[in-house]
Amino acid sequence: MKLVKTIDEMRAFRKATRKSGQRLGLVPTMGALHEGHLSLVRAAREKSDLVTVSIFVNPTQFGPNEDFAKYPRNLESDSALLQREKVDVIFTPSVEDMYPADAVTWVTVEGMSDRLCGKSRPGHFRGVTTVVSKLFHIIEPDVAFFGQKDAAQVAIIRRMVRDLNMPVAIEVCPIIRESDGLALSSRNAYLNPGERKSALVLSRSLQRVQKLFDEGKRDAERLITAGKQEFAKEPAARLDYFEIVDPDSLEPISTILQRALIAVAAFIGNTRLIDNILVDPQF
Ligand code: PAF
Repeated sequence: MKLVKTIDEMRAFRKATRKSGQRLGLVPTMGALHEGHLSLVRAAREKSDLVTVSIFVNPTQFGPNEDFAKYPRNLESDSALLQREKVDVIFTPSVEDMYPADAVTWVTVEGMSDRLCGKSRPGHFRGVTTVVSKLFHIIEPDVAFFGQKDAAQVAIIRRMVRDLNMPVAIEVCPIIRESDGLALSSRNAYLNPGERKSALVLSRSLQRVQKLFDEGKRDAERLITAGKQEFAKEPAARLDYFEIVDPDSLEPISTILQRALIAVAAFIGNTRLIDNILVDPQF
C-alpha cells in the first residue's frame, strides 16, 4: 500500500496506471474510518483493479461554528484498516496543496445544494462538490463509491457528474448500522453513553414511518408528523429536519407515488447526525 501525500505524486501514479489500462476505484473519505467506509472499500475492491482511498478533512464543507478543528483524525489506525482491505493507495493531501491561498473557484450544484442538510449548513454542499471534483480531476477514477447515508450528497454528486460530463461512474452502497439500528458515522464517536441511547431516535422515527408506509399510508405530511412524534418523546434530541423528497431532485413530495427518500437530521447534544430510508410503492 502506497501513502501519497501530494497532488503531483498522485497524478504521476495515475498516469503510470492508465498505460496498463487498470480500472481505478476511488473511495473519498474524511478519515475516522468505520465499517461503513470499509463496506465502500470492499465494493471498490470487487469492482476495480486498483483502489484509492482519499483521506482529507475538507475545510470548505464545514461552517464557521462546526467541528472542523475537532473532527477525528487518526491516519495511523485508518492506514492499518486500509492495509487489511488491500487498498493500493491512500491519498492524504494537505489543505495548502488542495486549496491555494488565493483560490476563488467553486463548483456548485444550484438549488439542490440548498435542500435538506444544505438548508441548515449553508455552503456545505458547495464545499463537498468542489472537493469531490478536485479529487476526480487529480485521481481520474473510473468509478467512485459513496454511502447512501449521505443521500443528499449522493444526489448532488450524481447531478454534478451528469451536468459537467465527468467520466466517472458513481456507485452507492447501503447504510451500515449498529445492531440496535444506529447508522454508523464518524461523528458517533462524539456521543457520551446517554447521548448514544438518545441517538436511536433517528432510526426509530424512520422505522415508525416505514411501518406506516408498509401499511399503505402515502400522505407525506402525515408520515412526517408520525416521524416527528418520536422526537417529541426524546428531550435530548433537537430535530433539524424530517422530510420526504424525491431522491434524485431532493424536491419535497406530498404523496408517495414513486420512489421517495425519507431523511432526518437532528442534534443529539452538540452532535449533528443524519439518517434516511428509501421507500418505493412499486415494491
Ligand atoms: O462523505 C464524506 O466523507 C465527505 O463529504 C467527502 C465525500 C469525502 C467529501 O469531503
